[in-house]
Amino acid sequence: MKSIKLSKEITSSFLVVGLAHSNGKLIVESGLAKLDEKKIQAILANLGATGKADEIIKVPYTKPETIIFTGLGESSKSYDHEALRRAAGAAARALEGQKSATFALPANDLAQISAIAEGGALGAYSFTEFRGSTKKEQKAVLQEIEILTSLTSAEAKNLAKRAGILAKNTFIIRDLVNTPPSHLTPAIFSTRMKKIALGLGLKVEILDERALKSKGYGGITGVGQGSANPPRLLRVSYKPAKAKKLIALVGKGITFDTGGLALKPANGMEAMKCDMGGAAAVIATVFAAAELKLPIAIDAWAPLAENMVSDNAQRPSDIVSIYGGKTVEVLNPDAEGRLVLADALMRAAEFAKSSGGLDGIIDVATLTGAQAVALGTRTSAVMTNDFEFSGQFLTAAKKAGEQFWPMPLPEELRASLDSPVADLANIGDRMGGMLVAGLFLREFINPQTPWLHLDIASPAFNEAEPHGYTPVGGTGISLRSLICLLESI
Ligand code: BES
Ligand code: MN
Ligand code: ZN
Repeated sequence: MKSIKLSKEITSSFLVVGLAHSNGKLIVESGLAKLDEKKIQAILANLGATGKADEIIKVPYTKPETIIFTGLGESSKSYDHEALRRAAGAAARALEGQKSATFALPANDLAQISAIAEGGALGAYSFTEFRGSTKKEQKAVLQEIEILTSLTSAEAKNLAKRAGILAKNTFIIRDLVNTPPSHLTPAIFSTRMKKIALGLGLKVEILDERALKSKGYGGITGVGQGSANPPRLLRVSYKPAKAKKLIALVGKGITFDTGGLALKPANGMEAMKCDMGGAAAVIATVFAAAELKLPIAIDAWAPLAENMVSDNAQRPSDIVSIYGGKTVEVLNPDAEGRLVLADALMRAAEFAKSSGGLDGIIDVATLTGAQAVALGTRTSAVMTNDFEFSGQFLTAAKKAGEQFWPMPLPEELRASLDSPVADLANIGDRMGGMLVAGLFLREFINPQTPWLHLDIASPAFNEAEPHGYTPVGGTGISLRSLICLLESI
């Protein structure tokens, strides 16, 4: 996707129009575009159109040459922004191979323009890097998005620009998640991100396996020790001059999770290339925050390791010492995310001390299979020690159009993490496994610091069909919510 612009006139030969339904009737939502309603209703009736979300109907017309009807669902006086976002996204996906399209959807206020711009931009994504001889057969994504609206103020243009920045950085996450572990080791992840960070004028620090070991990062070292691709700890910091607040973002960065000696079944293991989705999300979020010039300081941390099987791999019963000295008995080497996160959470708080401490800390992780059992494949979980902070986040997520839901940290589950030989075990009760993982992480959080734990295990990677603006593979979940949150702080 190259550009998003606002226009009062239709300049493209492809017109995207919304199609809704109400009491069995089809409602054409073409915004400022004037169409021959009678003719269109007849065509749509013949085609059996329903106006349901994710329905796309391409119709030859006269001027413009082609109309792409995109389902909005139940008709409304003021459409839900996420319905607009998804309808625009589904249309953008259907316009693969085209240079430009005019989006004539209800765009009567700034938030609607924003939603159409975001959805359209997010839908114009493909991942073709590893298509060899079949690359030529791949169509290019839609290049130019024109939004038909009478609002072309500077503010509206700024929102279109913001949408472009959100999409571009979401694509960084999707690309990283889609890149297989053969081509994305902890070292490659760090150097690739360093390059982008330096281009944006951000500060970068990368600790290699020797530094990690000597400085006491037992979690990252332990998880990474079974792999020929050694671990890293990446930090990217954004510190605008006028910043009054400092937030730390910490993302799980397992470039591949075999389960280690608790080896996962071969069937489905390929999806574990997504296990660095949290790390990708926090790094891309700090990039987006910098591009948007948000007046808030951010340290993004990515503890990166590959969880492999070898003669060097962690054994069940090994004890590791997390940064700061707390010890953990590794009962299950497949519960590796919490180990690398523990190191990074401790370091993030320590690092912020010299700047007056953290105003909040947020971890993002593809942490547990239990997340999908509890909430399904599209809804992520939020756990917290501060309900004001989680409330603020949930409001931001709603605005961003990402599905997050609050989950508890029941005290009675905490004891299941006790170990007879170390300060803590890395697994506890199986029931409520997502919550137990959250309770584990809480052990590495200063109770005074507002903290959010986002479990994005299943929503980070779409293994089903594409829908709305969401492709198959990496989704880029949590960037937009985090940016909306950071904008609100
Ligand atoms: N990376 C997985 C969690 C996961 C599962 C992410 C499915 C995405 C999709 C994590 O490291 C893991 O293996 N968790 C274990 C924890 C258990 C051993 C306590 C799990 O959920 O089974
Ligand atoms: Mn695992
Ligand atoms: Zn994992």
